[in-house]
Parts: sequence; structure tokens; C-alpha cells
Amino acid sequence: MKILVTGVKGQLGYDCIKELTKRGYTDILGIDIEDLDITDKTKVLEYIKSYKPDVVMHNAAYTAVDKAELNYDDCYKVNTLGTKYIAEACKEIGAKMVYISTDYVFDGSKDGIYEINDKTNPISVYGKTKLDGELAVKSILEKYFIVRISWVFGINGHNFIKTMLRLASLGKTELNVVDDQIGSPTYTADLAVLLCDMIETDKYGTYQATNEGYCSWYEFAKKIFELSNINIKVNPVTTKEYLQMVTQQAKRPMNSKMSKDSLDKVGFKRLPNWEDALERYLKEVSL
Ligand SMILES: NC(=O)c1ccc[n+]([C@@H]2O[C@H](COP(=O)([O-])OP(=O)(O)OC[C@H]3O[C@@H](n4cnc5c(N)ncnc54)[C@H](OP(=O)(O)O)[C@@H]3O)[C@@H](O)[C@H]2O)c1
Repeated sequence: MKILVTGVKGQLGYDCIKELTKRGYTDILGIDIEDLDITDKTKVLEYIKSYKPDVVMHNAAYTAVDKAELNYDDCYKVNTLGTKYIAEACKEIGAKMVYISTDYVFDGSKDGIYEINDKTNPISVYGKTKLDGELAVKSILEKYFIVRISWVFGINGHNFIKTMLRLASLGKTELNVVDDQIGSPTYTADLAVLLCDMIETDKYGTYQATNEGYCSWYEFAKKIFELSNINIKVNPVTTKEYLQMVTQQAKRPMNSKMSKDSLDKVGFKRLPNWEDALERYLKEVSL
């Protein structure tokens, strides 16, 4: 199989290439904005038609969630239109497409776990543009895998774990972390395994995939410091309290718990527990 991976300079794209290489794929190409700006419709079509991949793993996105609130057009161009152009190109050449979506398609008000067909209602620009990306893919293609993920961490890029470790290394002795937003971290190295499993099948559809288990950001932070043997006081704060301390533009869902039943139904293996993933990640970043 010939595979094109977008967003290769980001967290997930980097691990997709790593996993594909590990599996022995040689006809793979990882690209980022310098190679192809996905907001340029003509170039997207030309590029994909000339490379002719069997699969496009589309990870590139506008991921600056707060900045997006003030830059709707930029975010929409990348997350919705860029995704639409890639889907249209895949349609022309008959390629499979993987589109990575997010828990932010939900408003987080549900009292329970979000099922795949639950009502979407994004409360941020980022969430709205990612949902519109999902809708574009569904309306154009049949051979697609839409995979909603959350709280992403990978070796290659910025994430919550790196922020926590950086703050501790700056000599902070105390941190306030939100404890009323609940979700699941997703380690890109684990997710890449599932995505590579997916593209080797024709079990198309929409899925939700994160590491197993749920936690609050506070619990996540506590575990990061415990596993890193860092002695720092972490104070649990409510979202309301946190928003009084910082400038943050975008609203986040309070409940990001997503059901993984759709994976079980077709026999895809779930990701390991988030604590296990975190332990492996911390070992890898310390190497
Ligand atoms: N991070 C999370 O917590 C999270 C949660 C849920 C879902 N997701 C989704 O998961 C996927 C992977 O996320 P990630 O954290 O790996 O993202 P990331 O690290 O931010 O990487 C995204 C990459 O896309 C590139 N990009 C931006 N605009 C582009 C354009 N116009 N043309 C081509 N490339 C462009 C970025 O380049 P620049 O850096 O130069 O902009 C970056 O290298 C995304 O679809 C994201 O929406 C992420």
C-alpha cells in the first residue's frame, strides 16, 4: 500500500510514520504545510493525484483552540475546507481516508459517556470546524475512517505533559489544575497502532479512540509528577476558578468521556490504559 500522511511535523503524524515504518511499509510519504498547504484546493488535488496514494492519513489541523476563537476563517480553512479538499482528491483516485476528529464535537453536558451517534454540539470554533470536517468527509466519501480522539500527547509537539514538566523545571512549587473536566488522554504512539490496523481493513465508519480509563486534568497532572518523581503541590480548582486566573478564549467540554464500543463491534483492539501509556511516554521522553 502507498500511504500519504499529513501533519507529519505534529504529534500524531510523526507517530503514524513511525508505526508504518515499523510495520515494513516503504511506500510512505509524510508531509506538512511546507510541502502542501491543504487550504489550497488546486494544489491538494494536483499533489494527491500525482502521488496516487491508496490511503491518506489526514492528521494536519489548526489545533490552537484558544487562538481559533478570534480566527474563525483561518481555522475553518484548515480544518473544514482543507479536509474537504483532501476528501475530494481521495474520491477522484479511489483512496481510503483517515480523518482525525475530536471530543470537542460534543458540548460536554451529557451525564454519562458519549456514544458515537450522540448529538454533536460544539461549543468552540475549533470543535465546530472539526465537526464540519467530519460532515464533509461523510458527504464525499464511502471509504473513510473518522476517528474522534481527545487530550492528545506525543513525543513530537506540545502537550499538557510537556507543559506540566516545563512549569516544574522552572522552579514552580505549586500549580492549580482543573479537576472538573473529565476525559481520557490519548498517546499518539498507541493511537497510531490502531490507525494502521484500520487502514489494513475495509471496516469504514466513525470511531472514538482514546487510551482506556477516565481522569480529570488534576488527576492527570498528579500522575505525571508522581511517575516523574517530582515533588510539587498540585491544587485542584474548578473550571470557574481557573478561568478567573487565566485568559482563555475557548470553552471546553466538561465531560469528554467517549464510548469505545464502535471499536469492539468490528474487532479493533482498544488502546491500553492511560496510566500505562503515560508511564511509557515519560520513559521515552527521558531517553
Ligand atoms: N492535540 C489534541 O489534544 C487533539 C485532541 C483531539 C483531536 N486532535 C486532532 O488530532 C490530529 C492530530 O493532532 P496533533 O496534536 O498531532 O496536531 P499538531 O501537533 O498541532 O500537528 C498538526 C500539524 O498540521 C500542520 N498544519 C497546520 N495547518 C496546515 C495547513 N494549512 N496545511 C498543512 N499542514 C498544516 C501543523 O503545522 P504548524 O504547526 O506549522 O501549524 C502541524 O504540523 C488533528 O487533526 C487534531 O485536530 C488533537
